[in-house]
Amino acid sequence: MAFVPYDRPVRVAFVGLGRIYDLNVRGYLGNRDVEVVALVDPSEERRAQRAADWPAARTFASAAELASSGIEVDAAEVLLPIALHADGVIEMLGFGWHVNLQKPMCNDLWDAQRMLDAAKAGGRILRVMENYLFYEPLRQLKAIAESGEIGDISGYHIKMVGSGRGGWDVPWSSFELQMEQMKRGRGIFVFDDGWHKLATAIWLFGPIREVRAWIGNTAVGPGIDLDVPTTILWEHDNGVRGVWDATVAMDLYLRSDYYTNDERWEITGSKGYARVNRCTGRGIQQPSLEVYADGEMRGYHALDDDWASSFRDSGRHWLRWLHTGDGPLRWSGEEAVNVLRFALAAYASSASGGAGVNPGLVS
Ligand SMILES: NC(=O)c1ccc[n+]([C@@H]2O[C@H](COP(=O)([O-])OP(=O)(O)OC[C@H]3O[C@@H](n4cnc5c(N)ncnc54)[C@H](O)[C@@H]3O)[C@@H](O)[C@H]2O)c1
Repeated sequence: MAFVPYDRPVRVAFVGLGRIYDLNVRGYLGNRDVEVVALVDPSEERRAQRAADWPAARTFASAAELASSGIEVDAAEVLLPIALHADGVIEMLGFGWHVNLQKPMCNDLWDAQRMLDAAKAGGRILRVMENYLFYEPLRQLKAIAESGEIGDISGYHIKMVGSGRGGWDVPWSSFELQMEQMKRGRGIFVFDDGWHKLATAIWLFGPIREVRAWIGNTAVGPGIDLDVPTTILWEHDNGVRGVWDATVAMDLYLRSDYYTNDERWEITGSKGYARVNRCTGRGIQQPSLEVYADGEMRGYHALDDDWASSFRDSGRHWLRWLHTGDGPLRWSGEEAVNVLRFALAAYASSASGGAGVNPGLVS
C-alpha cells in the first residue's frame, strides 16, 4: 500500500508519557500539522499530568483500550521503555497507525525484522526518530565537513562523559528499566545513549565496514553496573575512521537542563578541524561549534544549541513528512537497523577481545 500524504492535521496519540515526553512534546505544541487526540500510559499520575497540555485529548491506560474506543488515530508517538518497543510497535502498526518511535529501535535483529515486517504488511510508516541529527551545531558540523572548508576528512572523534551530578530529575523507575537493559547486555552508555553517537557516525560518513570495541564495566552501587569505560573504533566504507570513548565521572557536577552528558564531536580535516563542544549538557562554555582552518579559529555564537530544540525539529520534520511523503525520514525503520547492526558489531567485537567485525554480517 503506497503512503498517501495527509491534507489535514494528523491525529496523533502519545504512547508513553514519561521523562522524555517533556522534550518530544515540543514538536507538537503549536503545530498545525497535528491534532493530539489521545494520551496513553498505565500510570494515572502521568495521564493526569500530561492531560493538562492537551485538554481535548482522551486518556487511556493502554494502546489497546484506545484502539477499541472509536477514536480515530493516524499515528502514534511511541515513548515506551525499550524492552516494550518491539511488541508495542507491532501492536500499534496492527491497529493501522503510523509510528514515530524513540530510539533504540529494539534489542536485537529478530525484533527489528518483526517490526519492519509488520510495517510492510500493514502499509504503515515506521520511523525511528534520531533527534541528534536535528541538533543545529551537529547539522552545521556536517555541512562544514562536506563543504571542503577543513580539507579532506582524516578522521573523527566523539567523546562522552556521563556525570553523576547535575541535570534534571530522572525517575528511579527509568533507571530501573535501564538496569534491566544492562542485564540483557544493552547498557545505558553503549546502547541507549550510544545509539545516538553511532547514528551520528553513519549520518556523517555513511556505511561502516568494520568495528572494534572494548566495552568495560563499572559498578556504581549494589546491583548497579555501567558499561564504561568503553572505546569503540570503526572504519566507514569510504575509509574514514572514527573513535568514540565513553566514561563516567560520578562526582563531577555538570550544569545541564537535561541529562548530564558532557559530549564532543571533532572532525579532523587535512587543513583544519571542526568541533562541537557540547550537546545535552552545558559543558564547555565556548561557542557550541568551532572551526579552525588556515590559522584562524571561527566560533559559532548564534546557533540554536539547546538540546531540546533537536526534539522539536525532529518532531516537526516527521509531522511535515506525513503531509508530503518527501525526503528522508531520519531514520526510516530500515536505516535504524544499520544503527542496531553497528551496536551489535561493537558487542561482538568486545566479546572476542577486540577483533574487527563487519556490521553487515552480525546476527
Ligand atoms: N532521544 C533521546 O535522547 C532519549 C532520551 C531519553 C529517553 N529516550 C528513549 O525514550 C523512551 C522512553 O524513555 P523515558 O526516559 O521517557 O522513560 P520513562 O521510564 O520515564 O517513561 C516511560 C513511560 O512509559 C509508560 N509505559 C510503560 N508501559 C506502557 C505501556 N504498555 N503503554 C503505554 N505506556 C507505558 C510508563 O508508565 C512511563 O510513564 C526509551 O526508548 C528511551 O530510550 C530517548
